Amino acid sequence: MPAESPRYEIAVVGPGAIGCLFGGLLKEAGHRVIMLDHRPERAESINRKGIHIEGISGTRDIAMKATANPSDVAGCDFALIATKSYDTGVAVNTISGVLRPSTPVMTLQNGLGNVELISRAVGDERTIGGITSQGATLLGDGSVRHAGAGKTVIGTPSNRLTENLRRVKGMLDSSGFAPQISDDLESTIWSKLLINVGINALTAITRLNNGRLLEFGGTRSIMQDAVREAVAVADARGIALAHGDPLAQVEEVCRLTAANVSSMLQDVLARRRTEIDAINGAVARIGLELGIPTPVNSVLASLVHTIESSYHLQVSR
Ligand code: PAF
Repeated sequence: MPAESPRYEIAVVGPGAIGCLFGGLLKEAGHRVIMLDHRPERAESINRKGIHIEGISGTRDIAMKATANPSDVAGCDFALIATKSYDTGVAVNTISGVLRPSTPVMTLQNGLGNVELISRAVGDERTIGGITSQGATLLGDGSVRHAGAGKTVIGTPSNRLTENLRRVKGMLDSSGFAPQISDDLESTIWSKLLINVGINALTAITRLNNGRLLEFGGTRSIMQDAVREAVAVADARGIALAHGDPLAQVEEVCRLTAANVSSMLQDVLARRRTEIDAINGAVARIGLELGIPTPVNSVLASLVHTIESSYHLQVSR
């Protein structure tokens, strides 16, 4: 890190794939990082073994402080919420009680609703939202494969370039993430949502890598319909999408991340709850409110819910 760059104390809440990747690279850049985990035994293991990163940025182990005690992150300058979207509310409510009253809280999570939950807990001024397409696969507790260097975009709920946003940009620049600044956070989040709408549920259902979705007529046509419905919902909400041809953008991400196991497929393979409610489920929910038909997103959400509910069942012949 250049001598003049400030060193921050950063809390990373949730040691999943993105939490470990960002926490590890921020630590390597010279920041003090502490990971907050609701599972004490995993926090203890990360404390002992550190974070293991392999992949495009090389293979190494990075010493890391981790805790299950929220009061340990009280003095942090920034908090990054990196839990699954269904845990955002609990995560931000847990830390908002202990953080200083001005500490910014950032989300780069998939799906809709994260910025709103954080804003509700700490206020718009302290909230930083955004997206990341960094490819990260969790290999085990505290262990991640850095599979691809996708872009990261950050912004504020007011779309203003605040001092907090400048500082977060500096912090992420220092660790090589080079985030772009968004002047329309809702557009940024919906534009990424469309990518997850087209890829995540389909890969989770078919158990295919992202790139393989383009190889089959069935998956291509379902992807096209799911994305088309989500675009109609975005249009009805008055959201200006970042890409003129969203389907082409989804296909491009499939190609760029061809070998990725999507985050939703990682969840299904590990028999975990998925983020379906914040992705295709959210499109179907908002479509219903606005009177926009979303049959394909509803079916995708129902199928993924069925997979989640039947992990314990065996096929009987
Ligand atoms: O959720 C994911 O896996 C990622 O957001 C993306 C971009 C679909 C790549 O796998």
